[in-house]
Amino acid sequence: MTARAAVLSGLGGWVPPRLVTNDQLAEELDTTDEWIRTRTGIRQRFVVDAGMATSGIAIEAGRRALRSADRSRVDLVVLATSTPDHPCPATAPEVASRLGLGEAPAFDIAAVCSGFVYALATSATMIASGSVDTALVIGADSFSTILNPRDRTTRAIFGDGAGAVVLRAGEAGERGAILGFDLGSDGSQADLITVPAGGSEQRSMGLLAPEDDYFFDMQGRSVFRNAVIRMSESAGKVAERVGWSVGEIDRVIAHQANVRILHAVALELGIPVERLVVNLDRVANTVAASIPLALVDGVVSGHLQPDDQVMLCGFGGGLTWGAAGLTLPSLSVEPLPGLPLPTRPPLPAALPVPAAAR
Ligand code: COA
Repeated sequence: MTARAAVLSGLGGWVPPRLVTNDQLAEELDTTDEWIRTRTGIRQRFVVDAGMATSGIAIEAGRRALRSADRSRVDLVVLATSTPDHPCPATAPEVASRLGLGEAPAFDIAAVCSGFVYALATSATMIASGSVDTALVIGADSFSTILNPRDRTTRAIFGDGAGAVVLRAGEAGERGAILGFDLGSDGSQADLITVPAGGSEQRSMGLLAPEDDYFFDMQGRSVFRNAVIRMSESAGKVAERVGWSVGEIDRVIAHQANVRILHAVALELGIPVERLVVNLDRVANTVAASIPLALVDGVVSGHLQPDDQVMLCGFGGGLTWGAAGLTLPSLSVEPLPGLPLPTRPPLPAALPVPAAAR
C-alpha cells in the first residue's frame, strides 16, 4: 500500500455565453485581429454579461465537476479567484451554499493566475494529511470586470471563465494521484501586475484615486520574461521531486497567457511543443480558470489520455508561481458550452519567442 494522497476524480469547466472576437475588439480599440493573433495566439474570448459575477461562473464549473465525479457532497470548497464578488466576504462560502454543499469549510485563495495551482496544492495537502476526504477546487475569474476599457493590451489578452476539479482521498500509486508540488512567490515584483486602487492602502488615505488606478495594470514584457523562467523552473523542480525525467512528462498544461510564453516554456524544459495543451486561442487568458479549462479541453479533444504523466504550471501576479505533477485518470468530462471542439494539432502556428524571453 502506498501513501495516502489526493486523487483527481472529477473535472468540469464553463465559459460565459458572450463571445468577443478580435475583430469585435478592433471595432472599439486601436488594434487588429492580426496583431492580437500574432503576438499572443488569441482569437477570441468570452466575457460575462452585466449582473453575472464570479460566483455565477464558479458554480457552473463546480456543478459540472461534481457531475463528472458523480458526487453531490464534498468536505471542502476552495475557490481560486482574484475577482471575488465583493472585497468582503470571500466568494467560496456562497458558491458552496448555492451548490448545495451544506456547511463545508469554504475559502478563497488569491494568487491571480497561479491561483488554481495554489488551491490544488492546499486542498491536496489537506486530503493527504487526513483533515478532509474530498474537496471541490475551483479556479474562476471574471477579469473583464476589472480591465480598463481603454487598454487595448489587457482587453486583448484576458477572458472570463471557470474550471473545477474534485479530489478524493486515495493512494499515491493510483491513477489520478497528485504526486508533488512546487510553489513560490516574489513580492519585490508586486508592481508588475496590479490593481493600484481600491484596497486598504489607497482607502486608508481616504481619498479617491484617479479612475484608471481602479483598473488592472500590467507590465507585459517583464511579465513575459518572468512567466517563462518561473514556470519552467517550477515544472523542473516538480519533475525531480516526483522522479520523472523530462522525457517522461507526457503533457504540460501551463498557464494559458500567450502562446509564445508556452513555446518558450517548452523550449526551456526541452520538450516538443506537441506536448503542450493549448486552448488560449479560443478562451484567452482566463486567469485562475486557465489551467482547469485547458485540462477540460485536453480531455475532451483526446489530447490528454488516461495514464498520461501531466505537469501543471502556473504563473501570475504577486509574483506567484507553482507546478504540480499528476497521472491522469479516466474521466467523464462535458465539453465547454458554446465552444467548438479543439482542433488537433492544438497549437496555433509557431510564433517567434521575443528576445526579452531568451
Ligand atoms: N494592438 C495593437 N498594438 C498593441 C496592442 C494591441 N492590442 N497592445 C500593445 N500594442 C502595442 C504597444 O502599445 C507597443 O506599441 P509601441 O511600440 O508603439 O509602444 C507595441 O504594441 C509593442 O508592445 P510590447 O508590449 O513590446 O509587445 P509584446 O510583443 O511584448 O506583446 C504582450 C505584448 C502583452 C502581448 C506580451 O508582452 C505578453 O503577452 N506579456 C505577458 C502578459 C501576460 O501573460 N500577463 C498575464 C500573466 S499572468
